[in-house]
Amino acid sequence: MIELTGVHKSFGTLEVLRGIDLTVRPGTVTVILGPSGSGKSTLLRCVNHLEKVDRGLVRVDGELIGYRRSGNRLHELSERQILRQRARIGFVFQNFNLFPHLTAVENVAEAPISALRKPRIETYERAHALLARVGLADKADAYPRQLSGGQQQRVAIARALALEPRLILFDEPTSALDPELVGEVLDVLRDLATAGTTMIVVTHEIGFAREAADTVIFMDEGRIVEQGPPAQVLDHPRHDRTQAFLSKVLI
Ligand SMILES: Nc1ncnc2c1ncn2[C@@H]1O[C@H](COP(=O)(O)OP(=O)(O)OP(=O)(O)O)[C@@H](O)[C@H]1O
Ligand SMILES: [Mg+2]
Repeated sequence: MIELTGVHKSFGTLEVLRGIDLTVRPGTVTVILGPSGSGKSTLLRCVNHLEKVDRGLVRVDGELIGYRRSGNRLHELSERQILRQRARIGFVFQNFNLFPHLTAVENVAEAPISALRKPRIETYERAHALLARVGLADKADAYPRQLSGGQQQRVAIARALALEPRLILFDEPTSALDPELVGEVLDVLRDLATAGTTMIVVTHEIGFAREAADTVIFMDEGRIVEQGPPAQVLDHPRHDRTQAFLSKVLI
């Protein structure tokens, strides 16, 4: 269970998140839609404490993210404790962010070995299995530059899965891909959804939201304007701003 309560975040005088309350149940898919600059990426980054919130709380499975409470005060966790929390939250970025000097299977195995000190042989076995799961069994020894964008993004997803995360955050995972490669990445996301992976996905892929999301959230100007099941938010939006946004993306 992921729970955000009253999350506020500003950069200088720009208030980017203006009081976000959000609950994500385990095993569900939440899709976040919204115009550029509405705070979607910042929201994801607050969930794993890549950004510090100014006000409000983020909890994952009841555990406060980034802070510990003592009495009435919150103390920020040490860098090591933050990294430990973050290791349990997968993050897949728009631009894959693979290590260029490591092969696909080395990219997948790297964090479990170096951050979680998992045994090498088992970790490599599992990394091969994860690559097979995303349809890349035959690309284990390829370097990122030898892979298409869609293949690189699938390696990045396998890498996130390697840490056995409690949830995976996806920030526009298909927006850097050529149109013909989008489908292969969305197929992997659909498989994960079917398998009950808890995911929060920022995307403009309305078709994916319609099929795979349990909850669709529409954000604008740092607020959640509307949320509900896809059939409600996408087909019968209550808010003018949601309607105006959808009429632009649903052409
Ligand atoms: N580190 C930062 N320093 C200053 N301003 C920032 C920083 N990160 C984000 N912003 C600003 O916060 C606002 C929200 O940014 P954010 O990246 O969360 O939007 P977004 O909804 O993800 O947009 P997009 O769809 O374009 O990715 C923007 O106006 C952005 O310029
Ligand atoms: Mg963004």
